Amino acid sequence: MPVSLSAVPPHPEDCRLSEFAAAVLEGLSSSPRALPCRFFYDARGSELFEAITRLPEYYLTRAETAILEGGAEDLLASVEPGATLIEFGSGSSRKTELLLGSGRFAVYTPIDVSSTALADAAARLRRRFPALAITPLVADFTADLRLTGACGTAPAVGFFPGSTIGNFNPWDARALLRRMGALLGPDGRLVIGVDLRKDRERLIAAYNDAAGVTAAFNLNLLARMRRDLDARVDLDAFAHRTLYNETLGRIEMHLVSLAPQRIDVAGQSFAFAAGETIHTESSYKHTPEGFAALAAAAGWRTRRILTDDEKLFAVMLLETD
Ligand code: SAH
Ligand code: AVI
Repeated sequence: MPVSLSAVPPHPEDCRLSEFAAAVLEGLSSSPRALPCRFFYDARGSELFEAITRLPEYYLTRAETAILEGGAEDLLASVEPGATLIEFGSGSSRKTELLLGSGRFAVYTPIDVSSTALADAAARLRRRFPALAITPLVADFTADLRLTGACGTAPAVGFFPGSTIGNFNPWDARALLRRMGALLGPDGRLVIGVDLRKDRERLIAAYNDAAGVTAAFNLNLLARMRRDLDARVDLDAFAHRTLYNETLGRIEMHLVSLAPQRIDVAGQSFAFAAGETIHTESSYKHTPEGFAALAAAAGWRTRRILTDDEKLFAVMLLETD
């Protein structure tokens, strides 16, 4: 019987406010103000992210695709036929096709908070791989996920591409990798995409593109507050800001208030001074050695590190210790 995943249901009290409303109230009440980046990804946010992956400045997707095109066989050499592939933050699952094309997997479980991205990807992959069992899960991959059903003899392989691990600070990244290790089991393997440190100009351009798609992606958080929470917020009075924090090795995205104003949402009103910001995303950049050390602290041994010709990005194969 194939592996299937279930998310442990939230405590009933967590349902009084929508998760998004609760996060907005908490994030706008905190100092400095911040919102969790997983809320970027409603249907519109997922579309905008896909547009970002096609931008000339956003090298990450092209570099990772090139690595997987040349390296999928190498990365999957030890995977037994009939294995299960579990993907964390699968989005459009485009790069996943390069792993599924190996024919080693019988079951594919993409996990994402974006139900529209999951449904579109599952429909496309069912056409392309009719023999594959596809069991999508709309869930927060940081939640308590459990494998249910008989796992058979082949252990599950995890796939965490896109440098989504970079959206977690090192402490949270370590905790998440540890949970993934526990989920995938004693012989677990994880293929993970990691964006590498590089010059500031290239990094900033990737998160502040000339066409303004990343700005629209960032501002979509405010648009989503209007759509989902009936918030009163003036989108034209906020601007997208990108900076590179070299000490922490992270790109930061902020929404900066262009004038004194208020956001009214979920029964509360938040005053903003001109220049005040909401921190919406961090994107940590690693060295291969630094990331291997972080993974080791979470119980993972690094088996392989593949990079593109320009060493912009790394795809690493980790095995549980
Ligand atoms: N893996 C794809 C998409 C990366 S974008 C790629 O490499 O191109 C990040 C994806 O992770 C989005 O689809 C988003 O909806 C999802 N995501 C972000 N945080 C998440 C979380 N906490 N739980 C589940 N999915 C999440
Ligand atoms: C999904 N994640 C790794 C992207 C990143 O590069 O941090 C999200 C993104 N934010 C702005 N552009 C893309």
